[in-house]
Amino acid sequence: MSRKNIIAANWKMNMTPSEAAAFLDPFLNTFSEATAVDIVIAPSFIAMPKASELITPNSAVALSAQNMSHEASGAFTGETSAAMLKEINTEYVILGHSERRSLYGEDDAVINKKVHAALSADLKPILCIGESLEEREGGQLESVLTTQLEGSLADVTIEQMGDVVIAYEPVWAIGTGVTATPEQAQDTQAFVRSVLAKIFREEVAAATRIQYGGSVKPGNAADLIGREDIDGFLVGGASLDPQSFAEIVSAGIGG
Ligand code: PGA
Repeated sequence: MSRKNIIAANWKMNMTPSEAAAFLDPFLNTFSEATAVDIVIAPSFIAMPKASELITPNSAVALSAQNMSHEASGAFTGETSAAMLKEINTEYVILGHSERRSLYGEDDAVINKKVHAALSADLKPILCIGESLEEREGGQLESVLTTQLEGSLADVTIEQMGDVVIAYEPVWAIGTGVTATPEQAQDTQAFVRSVLAKIFREEVAAATRIQYGGSVKPGNAADLIGREDIDGFLVGGASLDPQSFAEIVSAGIGG
């Protein structure tokens, strides 16, 4: 089954609106036409309107949020709704990032509510899962990932899975400079796909795009993307520099 690679920039709490514009102006020219990969940029909420202005509907780049509320509207200070994101042409939303899980206490139950809120609003979730080093070394890798997938995807339908992207991000590889080896990433992502086959069915698992994330750089992207079950990247640090992110996108086109 051929899956279109999807390369996403997770800018985290970096890039002011003017910095986002300075990145996007040249970057959007580099990739002005539809490419063989999906390119996604996830700025901070405050930089999203500026990014949305620059990303035209027929641009090769799609806009993503880094998080959202599962509530539709109301007294939820500091939160952002799916409708607000839709109004500025947001297409994707990163959900369950390990920083949201560990620093802001998000668990699979709340992430599941967000996944449903996103899908109902026609936003495509990039659902993040991943194990800590202790969990991997303690032999819990498979149980941790299975629990995260079952919990976060509870009651998602087979049809809805067509809009879901999974990002496998080992916590020990995020922002550490330590990347999973291509073998580790491939083995784990093949396992993730087998869990999707059990939760849904074989065809759903075969069609779902699974990104790798964790210290992806221009120097390791080509090796990783060459593996069967790696269908793109979620890139943090290396996505802040237009040149290095463009090189990673190019690796995604080649892979
Ligand atoms: P990193 O972050 O590329 O800086 O390791 C990846 C992520 O957290 O999405």
